[in-house]
Amino acid sequence: MINVRNLQFTYPKSSNEAIKGLNFSIAKGEVFGFLGPSGAGKTTTQRLIIGLLRGYSGNIEIMNKERREWDYNFYEKIGVAFDFPNLYKKLTAEENLKLIGSYYKTAPKDIEGLLIRVGLEGERRKKVEDYSKGMKMRLNFIRAIMHDPEILFFDEPTSGLDPVNARIIKDIILELKNRGKTIFLTTHHMDVAEQLCDRVAFINEGMISAIDQPKNLMVQYGKPMLKVEYEKDGVVHTEKLSLDHLKDNLIFEDILKNHQILTMHSQEATLEEVFILLNGRALI
Ligand SMILES: Nc1ncnc2c1ncn2[C@@H]1O[C@H](COP(=O)(O)OP(=O)(O)OP(=O)(O)O)[C@@H](O)[C@H]1O
Ligand SMILES: [Mg+2]
Repeated sequence: MINVRNLQFTYPKSSNEAIKGLNFSIAKGEVFGFLGPSGAGKTTTQRLIIGLLRGYSGNIEIMNKERREWDYNFYEKIGVAFDFPNLYKKLTAEENLKLIGSYYKTAPKDIEGLLIRVGLEGERRKKVEDYSKGMKMRLNFIRAIMHDPEILFFDEPTSGLDPVNARIIKDIILELKNRGKTIFLTTHHMDVAEQLCDRVAFINEGMISAIDQPKNLMVQYGKPMLKVEYEKDGVVHTEKLSLDHLKDNLIFEDILKNHQILTMHSQEATLEEVFILLNGRALI
């Protein structure tokens, strides 16, 4: 559905290239994630694909056509939810959805059901200017999906949401995937990437350092560790130890000989640990 080749971009008036030659493809029905720290180029890449930024070099092929060659029909086929919700502040939630829905050829289906689903049905007649950040995020999410587009772009879809609402949004994303939608999301939370993405690209300073299934990245680059919880002087301590040469590990020997072990599990490296290994910096 999306095929990006040698994508490069520099913001006007900026001397640094924000995007330095990206290559990736996203298949139909795939949830693809950009995982990277602040300033990595996640939003810039999405804005280029959506057409909110122009003047790139390289190729962005989307639904079999170069991005530059698409006309306004493009916006019928995509849905976009960005981290700065783009809503009419003076209108209520319901008025926003009706008005924005009227811009599309395909009339939105089941706005009522979507409002219930994200827990906004009781607030539907409230003006958006009186909404909290999390409420705006949820409304903006409905706005992105209500015309049932084929490709969805979510920029930090769970930012500003409490765990319950974050779960609801993640569940809806997985349902969209199950209905064959193609989804490109960005995040700097490894949990979101692990839970939602079929494949993830690590992005840092405008470059991609790895693309694979989260599980493969963890197995390929991460070393399994042994996590030991033990009691020392009445306090519970946790130690993470490499499985390499464990029998010679003095910390492990000390725990075994002198302390009470409470739990012991082997663990794969986390996606964040693999990111640090490949990029030399943390996600946040
Ligand atoms: N309007 C702009 N003008 C000039 N430079 C910009 C502009 N927007 C972003 N940049 C720069 O482009 C680079 C990539 O920014 P981008 O917003 O794509 O990062 P991001 O990965 O989305 O970060 P975050 O996680 O903070 O949202 C950064 O170096 C940033 O400073
Ligand atoms: Mg961003």
